[in-house]
Amino acid sequence: MNGAQHVVIAIDGPAASGKSSTAQWVAQQLAFRHVDSGALYRAATAAQLRRGTGEESWTEEEVCEAARKVRLVPRGTSFTPLIDGQSVDEELRGLEVTKHVSRVASMPRVRDWVNDRVREAARDHDVVVDGRDMGTAVFPDATLKVFLVADPWERARRRLVQQLGRSPTDEEIAEETGRLVQRDARDATQTVQAKDAILIDTTYLTQEEQVERIVALVKAVTQRDSTTSAVDDDSGPG
Ligand code: DC
Repeated sequence: MNGAQHVVIAIDGPAASGKSSTAQWVAQQLAFRHVDSGALYRAATAAQLRRGTGEESWTEEEVCEAARKVRLVPRGTSFTPLIDGQSVDEELRGLEVTKHVSRVASMPRVRDWVNDRVREAARDHDVVVDGRDMGTAVFPDATLKVFLVADPWERARRRLVQQLGRSPTDEEIAEETGRLVQRDARDATQTVQAKDAILIDTTYLTQEEQVERIVALVKAVTQRDSTTSAVDDDSGPG
């Protein structure tokens, strides 16, 4: 169990492994809140892009200052980042943000800022958090840690289906696979599988199956923890 009293389910994995949608769905099923740490890196990047300064000269200090305009607020079963009080969902998924976010995510002070926001969100709720290092740097004592992986071709295919709303051609998938593998390389330092994470390869799983497995794992772990604490209580003096 984590240091706080609340349950923390950490889902990590590479780009387009389906972490966020799976985490969102698991949170809904368990009546937990979902926190997408990647969205915070994207929001810091978007806030900095809005300043309109040359990307080459961005400093860690400037990005941290820009990030002060970002607030993480509860929305439904999730948290969403706002910039200057405005919803920015589309901007966060846009090409410009995607192009620069890895660099922003490599800045240690920005990582501290994101991690503080995520921990704050987890303070008052049971949460499903997703990212690259949730089970290692941010919640080393998470109730359950899952690391999602999938074959790069399949990740590229899923991403294109989502973007295009149709079946992509092999040529399109091949091109997207190349981009994805480059992103994997840029994010490699940050993407860490915890030693005690349960690895789930989703290449041949439907999203329903992934969600079912994780929900079953959460139930098993929380049941085990409550049995263990009941036994501990019984074995005390008196
Ligand atoms: O999961 P995503 O594509 O929204 O992540 C955006 C970027 O943030 C990506 O470059 C990886 C990085 N990231 C990170 O370094 N650590 C996290 N916990 C989450 C995301």
